[in-house]
Amino acid sequence: MATRRRIFLTILPIVMFPDKILKQKCKKVTSFDKNLAKLLNNMYETMIEADGVGLAAPQVDVNKQIAVVEVDEDSGVIEMINPEILETEGEQTGVEGCLSFPDIYGEVTRPYRVKIRAQDRHGEYYELEAEDFLARALQHEIDHLHGILFTSKITRYITVEELEGYDAE
Ligand code: CO
Repeated sequence: MATRRRIFLTILPIVMFPDKILKQKCKKVTSFDKNLAKLLNNMYETMIEADGVGLAAPQVDVNKQIAVVEVDEDSGVIEMINPEILETEGEQTGVEGCLSFPDIYGEVTRPYRVKIRAQDRHGEYYELEAEDFLARALQHEIDHLHGILFTSKITRYITVEELEGYDAE
């Protein structure tokens, strides 16, 4: 008889600025176990519920180098454990928001293309190259793992009304 697996998902509370954990450098993940898988599943569910495109572990009160990103169906869900940026190229300026800063939007300039190296939920290393909005989302989340918030990089704040005139990203 086949074993039925049931996955119970939990929507986690999102930590809001100025909670101290958001400014801390996160610790490396060393055990790739069931708890990590459960946290990743719950982080994904929490991100979707909040209508976000990325979520970092400190945003759910976990001081570890873990983040999830999903900007569209093409990219699919990207799970980054202990990620590093290997290379960057070019420049882009675009509007960002963050689930820990409700109603705050601003223009941030970042590299246009990035190459990252990270581990997956099983501890396997992988490399990924991304550009444009996906590259922006990956960099925003990796910044979170170093306690760097997007507000420190905003060159111009955007009001919610202005945002509606912007290309929806
Ligand atoms: Co954020």
